[in-house]
Amino acid sequence: MTSDSTENEVSGPVKGDFVAPPDYEDRDESADALPEQEEFWRPPVRFGSVPVEKEPLGWDRRRGFRKLFPSVSLPFQVAERVRFGHSDLEPNRLLWGDNLHVMRQLPSESIDLIYIDPPFFSGRQYNVIFGDQNELRSFSDIWEGGMPGYLIWLNARLYEMKRLLKKTGSIFVHCDWHASHYIKVEMDKIFGYENLIDQIIWHYGTPSGGRSSGRKPVKVHDVIFAYAINYGTYILY
Ligand SMILES: C[S@@+](CC[C@H](N)C(=O)[O-])C[C@H]1O[C@@H](n2cnc3c(N)ncnc32)[C@H](O)[C@@H]1O
Repeated sequence: MTSDSTENEVSGPVKGDFVAPPDYEDRDESADALPEQEEFWRPPVRFGSVPVEKEPLGWDRRRGFRKLFPSVSLPFQVAERVRFGHSDLEPNRLLWGDNLHVMRQLPSESIDLIYIDPPFFSGRQYNVIFGDQNELRSFSDIWEGGMPGYLIWLNARLYEMKRLLKKTGSIFVHCDWHASHYIKVEMDKIFGYENLIDQIIWHYGTPSGGRSSGRKPVKVHDVIFAYAINYGTYILY
């Protein structure tokens, strides 16, 4: 073994290894895991009794998102372990798999920050030629049940992300005009309206420099919703 490989070596499983699922008890999700929002959603009394959706789409009062998406205990396949050149930092892991099932196997309150770039509800099928081997990678952004089907799929994952975040943690959700307004409402129900740090607008312009070429305006920005688990304790480092 050369000194170079010793330098880059990380202990534990290596790329391609399957790691047995950790022992964990399947949780019983209950309504108290969602923020108290009764007051926020209650319409003025002069409107009478108006039913309101204060729970995220897909949520079951007794079993949470596990009713629609039961737990599957999967081994992790280690795709990559990356060292960031600092001896005190644990090597980070890149894990393959459906993120819902991977996340359910991770411990609660263990993560500082989550950034996601999920499918945007664009109604498109994406095929991308990737890497030197011209590998075809694809994913579908077409949803059975339209917007509600998409939101239910996303909500189950957002809920799991909330469980994984530390009390001082934060989450950044990247989306665009296709679903951003609907995602905001669902995130308010899961993370709490008052925990929005900001709605970040990523203005990326267009190949023509961001100007509309005719009489029609062009869409030139994405949206990133930033929430803290407890905005009162949120600190930007
Ligand atoms: C908008 S793309 C993000 C692409 C990525 N940020 C990049 O720059 O390559 C959405 C990605 O989410 C992945 N995805 C969709 N469903 C997933 C799931 N259940 N678990 C993990 N990844 C998923 C898709 O394969 C796709 O790569």
